[in-house]
Amino acid sequence: MSVATSRTGTENARIRIDHEKCTACGLCVKVCKDFSLIIEDNILKINQKPLFGCIGCGHCVAVCPHDAIAVNGRTLNPEDFSKLEKDNLPDYESLNKLLLNRRSTRDFKDKPVPKEIIEKILAMASTAPMGLPPSDVGVMVMNSKEKVKQFSFDFIDLLERMKWMVSPASLTLMRPFMSKDDYLLFKSFVIPMVSFFTESRKRDENYLLYDAPLAMMFYGNMSDPADPYIAANYATLAAESLGLGACMIGSVGPFLKNTGKDFKRKYGLPSKMRDSIIVIFGYPQVKFSKTIKRSFERVYYV
Ligand SMILES: Cc1cc2nc3c(=O)[nH]c(=O)nc-3n(C[C@H](O)[C@H](O)[C@H](O)COP(=O)(O)O)c2cc1C
Ligand code: SF4
Ligand code: SF4
Repeated sequence: MSVATSRTGTENARIRIDHEKCTACGLCVKVCKDFSLIIEDNILKINQKPLFGCIGCGHCVAVCPHDAIAVNGRTLNPEDFSKLEKDNLPDYESLNKLLLNRRSTRDFKDKPVPKEIIEKILAMASTAPMGLPPSDVGVMVMNSKEKVKQFSFDFIDLLERMKWMVSPASLTLMRPFMSKDDYLLFKSFVIPMVSFFTESRKRDENYLLYDAPLAMMFYGNMSDPADPYIAANYATLAAESLGLGACMIGSVGPFLKNTGKDFKRKYGLPSKMRDSIIVIFGYPQVKFSKTIKRSFERVYYV
């Protein structure tokens, strides 16, 4: 029985060894951290006592120099493997240049993002690492300014209905049960933010997802909570490399974790949705001419 994901249940992937081609070099055994493979008497064999059972990570197939091993199942197929392009890989300098150029973009030209570009962003985001393969991340795409606006206003309407939960009065009531940090976060950020969204919505202004012509919500199912965030981050970098601007929007996800049943149904989102994050995209209206040096809270070596 392998590790469960919402897509695969506890299915194991199936391993096939071509003994005609296998030289028993042991590379696949080395990279398989599930201990699904062993070499006995100089012959590669499937271990009957693995850690979980083949999770379908594909590393054994990807490392084998002789195409002597195949893995099928947990969404993985032989067609999913292709030869790696090793020439002209971006080096530190070129990657750094892209990253230094990136700024969160919230002002967009009134220009739709073509389908081919959306597909390219999704293809690059789908290469992101995940806690356990296959990725359990779902992506809801809103591919027009109108759809983005509709979603934003529906969400702000939901916030309006939940406003009592994030009002100064309920914060005072909840204060004894909250940590100091949570209290400060609610007081200084969440409450003013909800008020601002609801007030600006009355003026037909969208400060939640701005006037973006494209937005994607990355959400997790049974996955590691970090999975949607990592995929979203890849999407922002993909957008940057394609000449688009992007901005992560974290203010929707936390509200949808335990509430908004009808809202989630309307948008085809899972009722038991876990962590999620939205990314907005579009052609930048404003060009930044300086980069900004950032720092971590602290870096320390032990
Ligand atoms: C997890 C996460 C959530 C964010 N949520 C929002 C948001 O809800 N609204 C917004 O306007 N910007 C949001 N941002 C963008 C940040 O405000 C932005 O990254 C930060 O101000 C630094 O600017 P830079 O990305 O240009 O370096 C978010 C960024 C991250 C990483
Ligand atoms: S990497 Fe390939 S050749 Fe080497 S032991 Fe594994 S299947 Fe055999
Ligand atoms: S696919 Fe991954 S878990 Fe399965 S045998 Fe290969 S390396 Fe091991």
